[in-house]
Amino acid sequence: MITFQDVQIHFGDFHAVKNLNLNINEGEFFTFLGPSGCGKTTILRSLVGFISPSGGNITLDGRDITHVPIEKRGIGMVFQSYALFPTMNVYENIAFGMRVKKASKAEIDKDVREIARKVDLKDEQLFKKVSELSGGQQQRVAIARALVLKPAILALDEPLSNLDAKLRVQLRNELKLLQKQFGITTIYVTHDQEEALTLSDRIAVFNNGVVEQVGTPQEVYDRSQTEFVCNFIGDINRLEPELIENSSLKQIVKPGKIAYVRNEKVSLLPLPGEGVVHLQGEVVDREFYGLYSKYVLKAAGGTLLKTIEKENGLEQRKVGDRVDIYINSEHILQY
Ligand SMILES: Nc1ncnc2c1ncn2[C@@H]1O[C@H](COP(=O)(O)OP(=O)(O)O)[C@@H](O)[C@H]1O
Ligand SMILES: [Mg+2]
Repeated sequence: MITFQDVQIHFGDFHAVKNLNLNINEGEFFTFLGPSGCGKTTILRSLVGFISPSGGNITLDGRDITHVPIEKRGIGMVFQSYALFPTMNVYENIAFGMRVKKASKAEIDKDVREIARKVDLKDEQLFKKVSELSGGQQQRVAIARALVLKPAILALDEPLSNLDAKLRVQLRNELKLLQKQFGITTIYVTHDQEEALTLSDRIAVFNNGVVEQVGTPQEVYDRSQTEFVCNFIGDINRLEPELIENSSLKQIVKPGKIAYVRNEKVSLLPLPGEGVVHLQGEVVDREFYGLYSKYVLKAAGGTLLKTIEKENGLEQRKVGDRVDIYINSEHILQY
């Protein structure tokens, strides 16, 4: 288990990480999620050993590693920028760390080829210069280079950010399979909520050097503990005071609270169960995506509500249509 205990990180006068307390379990896929500049890379670098905290401790299975040198921590790192040796071929890039550790030629050859296969690099790619490879292949080399040293922990800092959307999804799926296969404790940094939700066992959401919430993807999404988390993850509607005042939401939203509901929890079809809020509105915009459509509805007091409806071919709504709107009160988040 990795433990951050009261960790503080300063850059001069700037307090980048404030009193971080966090546990990461063995074998877990754990993600640091947050907007640019919130301190994700800084925390990851303190775990790997590039940065020394100004206070607190980082322990690994009870052993204090706060000031242990990088090479003695057993943590592999993959960077957004790949950080490969551009003039060396793929094989030499992957072998580099093993050569530093003075592994035998035979051992290096066996491990390099085996890990290359696991990350889907073909034999004929092994002797190409990395500069001749595509971004996706270069990132595979970077992942192989980290994994070949059999680290206890793999740290990845926005490894997919430089790739195009399709490749990002493909590599994301491969990474998830690889992690399951190796069972390696993985710390993954991203600003992309979709990556965080699809990949992680647990997510820590950061804002301004502080953890806002730690939880499973579903917990963080469905039960966002802070207003920041609920706005940062997923698309959400703010329920404006005029709408609350003029509807049965008045009985649900506590006075003085700010209320939200996720887009997909706003329904145009009746919902079963108790505690369903019924509103009326008008379709003011519709975007057709094929699989689904996105709607903007205008409800009482002029509040705009966004929703998404699967295109099942049964119901079509046009701009100008009057619609009934249903919200399960359990899905209303209040801060
Ligand atoms: N070496 C440094 N010197 C001074 N400030 C830094 C340094 N590294 C990061 N920072 C600052 O610390 C904050 C967190 O940065 P970073 O960890 O890179 O954020 P993230 O990875 O979440 O985008 C930012 O405000 C950044 O400008
Ligand atoms: Mg960063």
